[in-house]
Amino acid sequence: MSARCIDGKQLAKDIREGVGADVKAFVAGTGVRPGLAVVLVGDDPASAVYVRNKKKACDAAGLFVVDHPLPAATPQAALLDVIQRLNADDAVHGILVQLPLPAHIDSQVILHAVSPDKDVDGFHPFNVGRLVEGAAGFVPCTPKGVIRMIESTGETIQGKQAVVVGRSNIVGKPAAMLLLHHHATVTLCHSRTRDLPAVCRGADILVAAIGKPQFITGDMVKDGAIVLDVGINRLDDGRLVGDVHFEQVRERAGWISPVPGGVGPMTIAMLLVNTLEGARRAVA
Ligand code: GUN
Repeated sequence: MSARCIDGKQLAKDIREGVGADVKAFVAGTGVRPGLAVVLVGDDPASAVYVRNKKKACDAAGLFVVDHPLPAATPQAALLDVIQRLNADDAVHGILVQLPLPAHIDSQVILHAVSPDKDVDGFHPFNVGRLVEGAAGFVPCTPKGVIRMIESTGETIQGKQAVVVGRSNIVGKPAAMLLLHHHATVTLCHSRTRDLPAVCRGADILVAAIGKPQFITGDMVKDGAIVLDVGINRLDDGRLVGDVHFEQVRERAGWISPVPGGVGPMTIAMLLVNTLEGARRAVA
């Protein structure tokens, strides 16, 4: 069996275009242009690429971007000042603080300082709590994109065995929660999971968010499974690969998301969706 590809790039493009049309209508109806503040501290090259892509997508969809590049040595107190100003700025409906932050800054303090009403990443404990409750709040962009990708296959989530590998606050934990809300039976795995390959082989839906190149091999996947690859890893030979061994797993899976062109573009599309949602709430 050769898996069908979940084309995140195309799906994200369609969603971005839909957001663009919605933004146009929103501006016409309210006179308000949705605005996203992007805070990047330091010069991590991967973060710089992500932020550039996020800003480009915002521009194309008609969102207003407030750019806040800050030097790597920015003191925590100065970063907090920037966030307080953005919290108070009515033209800003979403605040994104790109992670990771430099080591001298306590990320938790910073993420807790972002107003929950502008927390388009869904990282503030208020929104984390709303997600656990199943109530309306901002949902983190990557797992939100993963769910849209599964839905795009036309397969149901309800009743399926879903295995999420990786327990990060950004992806693994919220992905598990969203799958649970969609009535999957969810197993959340991590580095200390016993016999991980056997657990993965039980998955109808497998979400790989480990951060290790080609970690999920063909023998770890059930025939016909839906496999979502959240990883982005650069190999020594320069190739960009996911956490899934694509060539092996495509022979087993029913559906598979590629890297690049899978989950990555969907994260950006969901950021646009969340920013427009922030603006809608602000004028409601
Ligand atoms: N770093 C890696 N992924 C993300 C994300 O989704 N949001 C932010 N703010 N930083 C990230």
